[in-house]
Amino acid sequence: MLRWRLAGGMSIQLAAAIFCMLPLFTSSTGDIRHHGTSRARGWRAGVQPAADVTANNTVSNITAQLGGTAYLHCLVGHLSERGQVSWIRKRDWHILSSGKFTYTNDERFQVLHGEGSEDWTLQIKFVQKRDNGTYECQVSTRTGIVSHYVRLQIVVPEAFILGSGEHHVDLGSVIHLICIVEKSPTPPQYVFWYHNDRMINYDATRGGITVETEPGARTQSRLTVRGATLKDSGNYTCSASNTEPASIHVFVSEGSNKMAAILRRNTSAIHGITSSGTCLLLLTSVLLHFGLR
Ligand SMILES: *[C@@H]1O[C@H](CO)[C@@H](O)[C@H](O)[C@H]1NC(C)=O
Ligand SMILES: *[C@@H]1O[C@H](CO)[C@@H](O)[C@H](O)[C@H]1NC(C)=O
Ligand SMILES: *[C@@H]1O[C@H](CO)[C@@H](O)[C@H](O)[C@H]1NC(C)=O
Ligand SMILES: *[C@@H]1O[C@H](CO)[C@@H](O)[C@H](O)[C@H]1NC(C)=O
Repeated sequence: MLRWRLAGGMSIQLAAAIFCMLPLFTSSTGDIRHHGTSRARGWRAGVQPAADVTANNTVSNITAQLGGTAYLHCLVGHLSERGQVSWIRKRDWHILSSGKFTYTNDERFQVLHGEGSEDWTLQIKFVQKRDNGTYECQVSTRTGIVSHYVRLQIVVPEAFILGSGEHHVDLGSVIHLICIVEKSPTPPQYVFWYHNDRMINYDATRGGITVETEPGARTQSRLTVRGATLKDSGNYTCSASNTEPASIHVFVSEGSNKMAAILRRNTSAIHGITSSGTCLLLLTSVLLHFGLR
């Protein structure tokens, strides 16, 4: 009898330990954030593969965001006096530019070349989906024609909320939602959260709401609503400046989570388990207990 009770008590402790370790196991989102910001730094600095057009038929890939500006670099060293640099769109063999002159009515295209510079950049503003494709930087010299190709890929930013379309939380607990905006080399200017039709980023009447947004190539916005009440149920929408909105349905109910109910019933057993330090101690004691048997 005593043994049984001991074992029972231990299983509750183990459950508690696992439950409070959960945040540690789900911390992989931290990696995403880190990855996102480092990638964003790369984009902002304009680090793009650019080839020196001395080797023939080189290819580089670049990505541009729908509505943004694309820079297609072409480095030409020692261009002789009669040499000429042209940009050609492979889709329709349209000669977009020759030297510093553009041969297109589309004013979004422009060649950027500073005096004495080796860079002949084709700039495309307000990038559209149909700009997707390959562009050729053709350099004609006395010895022949040498080409560098740039594959331009247009990406369309997307937003989604982690988890399935439904999110269940217990009365009084915390609603925690994470919205990801990806395929967005230029981070969105803002991410707004809505509860049904109401914008809640700066909601002071409800209180207990925080929004943290980490901009990057993969922007992450975290919504936290503390002390969930039945009124907090409903449709939550994440709306970023450069994407379609994403929604999730939140259900606040009593005792939807059996584990949480067990934990509440045994609050004395797990009293004060809030820090992961205590959790670790608890887990260690559980492991030791089993290990010594
Ligand atoms: C460019 O992208 C293609 C596929 O889209 C890939 O095969 C190639 O290796 C890439 N080139 C570079 C230089 O990244
Ligand atoms: C570069 O390659 C093209 C075909 O891909 C060829 O026609 C051209 O002569 C080459 N240029 C040089 C300088 O080798
Ligand atoms: C752009 O072209 C690539 C292949 O060249 C394709 O995989 C991609 O889906 C295209 N993107 C858009 C937005 O059309
Ligand atoms: C949630 O609200 C948004 C904006 O009001 C709406 O576009 C979306 O369809 C709603 N989603 C659900 C599941 O009701």
